[in-house]
Amino acid sequence: MLLITICVGSSCSLRGSDELASELFRLIEKEKLEGLVDIVGAFCMDACSKGVSVRVGDQEFSGIHPEQAEAFFYREVVPRIKTKLMPRNNNDSPATPITERKVHDE
Ligand code: FES
Repeated sequence: MLLITICVGSSCSLRGSDELASELFRLIEKEKLEGLVDIVGAFCMDACSKGVSVRVGDQEFSGIHPEQAEAFFYREVVPRIKTKLMPRNNNDSPATPITERKVHDE
């Protein structure tokens, strides 16, 4: 599960944290990503100066405005969800499907 944390401190609330959260919820539903990503609120994240502060996974962003929600979602959220869902192996190369199985007669 990818966690998006949105600051709901007083400064970020005045800059539109509720609207940003609503828009991100709408995009999650639109892309049918419920259960893969969740949104929670947090108090002041110590970056009040520009716009709403947001954390996606372990990366923090500040200065996000509600009207940027869609671009932010497709740039910062969707790729992280896809990365979490992709299977990994030891050398990080795509898995090779087994298409043929050799049978030896002895
Ligand atoms: S109120 Fe949001 S970072 Fe301070």
